[in-house]
Amino acid sequence: MAENLYIPKEVSKEEVYKSLYPQLKALIADESDQIANMANIASALKEALGFFWVGFYRVVGERLVLGPFQGPIACTSIAFGRGVCGSTWKEAKTIIVPDVDKFPGHIACSSLSRSEIVVPIKQNNTVVAVLDVDSDQLDSFNEIDSYWLEKICALF
Ligand code: SME
Repeated sequence: MAENLYIPKEVSKEEVYKSLYPQLKALIADESDQIANMANIASALKEALGFFWVGFYRVVGERLVLGPFQGPIACTSIAFGRGVCGSTWKEAKTIIVPDVDKFPGHIACSSLSRSEIVVPIKQNNTVVAVLDVDSDQLDSFNEIDSYWLEKICALF
């Protein structure tokens, strides 16, 4: 397992994702505990891409429960269909929110969060968790993020 991440500097976001992806793959390859893997992926994404908040919510019964994350403290439990995370669980597809104030029902864990992307993690076609990434800037996420974050989520 790699002990250090190599993060290229002064390159595009896409180049950072490209460099990071095989490192993340190697990082979690030998570990079957998904909480440990979520913890390292949250840390690596925060370090490499400087997100305001990055973390996981796991499906536990009827709710999404906060899992490993990096950033300010966050809501611990989200109902099915609620907020961006609960909507991603319900729709089983990635949601990009350019302006959280314009997303009906957005759950504001931090007033500093301005835009967001949430990606489902599926096992046997069922959503078992979501990856949530928040930015303190408007319109921070696009198809480059959804492409790479979906690839990263498929590693689980
Ligand atoms: N904004 C999310 C809640 C989680 S926090 O952003 C960490 C939502 O609307 O589901």
